[in-house]
Amino acid sequence: AARLAASGDLSGRRVVVTAGGTREPLDPVRFLGNRSSGRQGVAIAAAARARGAEVTLIAAHLEVAPPEGVTLVEASTARELQHAVTDAAADADILVMAAAVADYRPAVVVDSKIKKEAQGDTLELSLVKNPDILAELGASRRAGEYPGLRLVGFAAETEPDQAALLEMGRAKIARKGADLLVVNRVGWTQGFATDGNSVVVLDGAGDIVSEAAGSKMSVADRILDAIVALD
Ligand code: CTP
Ligand code: CA
Repeated sequence: AARLAASGDLSGRRVVVTAGGTREPLDPVRFLGNRSSGRQGVAIAAAARARGAEVTLIAAHLEVAPPEGVTLVEASTARELQHAVTDAAADADILVMAAAVADYRPAVVVDSKIKKEAQGDTLELSLVKNPDILAELGASRRAGEYPGLRLVGFAAETEPDQAALLEMGRAKIARKGADLLVVNRVGWTQGFATDGNSVVVLDGAGDIVSEAAGSKMSVADRILDAIVALD
């Protein structure tokens, strides 16, 4: 019933969603990655489409099929994702950064396979920081760019204590300059590659505007409700 009631409320709106997890190459056969499956981001793209939006899905190594009826842009590394997001954000109304973006990448990517024999018993990797796509967009917006764009971030945290988790979320949304931050708890057995999710949505002031639990599709609709309610 909630889905039917919401149907069409994003009609004509341009929504960009990032989903999945970036991979940062080390050599031609290896990468540093993360466990994001892309399910929650794909559900948001599907729900936005069902509500009438024109959707661009920027996909980094999805483990699930993308929804029909969306424009698919593939990105592998954090920097590729940044280029895709910057292009798509220029004429978007809403950007939802659900992808797990690698914070660091190998400082050097070698052209041939790293060999054990040349390394010995330990291998040290040197990593450099990737651009923080969301924080940079937040800063550009504060400087007057992207005037009509709604910016939504995600924060997956392992913090077990709910109050501490929310405090982290409040600090994070302030750092990012986003309109909303979707906070969820993740762990060895929680959050990834599962159908369900449980989230708290914070606004720019750090106040809770929504709490949702259930299938990733129903959580997607509650997140979109919170975005629509910004207007
Ligand atoms: N994000 C991004 N660019 C990065 C890292 C993260 O745009 N290089 C976005 C993510 O897509 C997400 C939000 O920022 O929407 C929060 O990501 P998260 O990893 O929780 O926050 P970080 O600022 O990277 O802090 P940390 O990982 O140390 O908790
Ligand atoms: Ca991070």
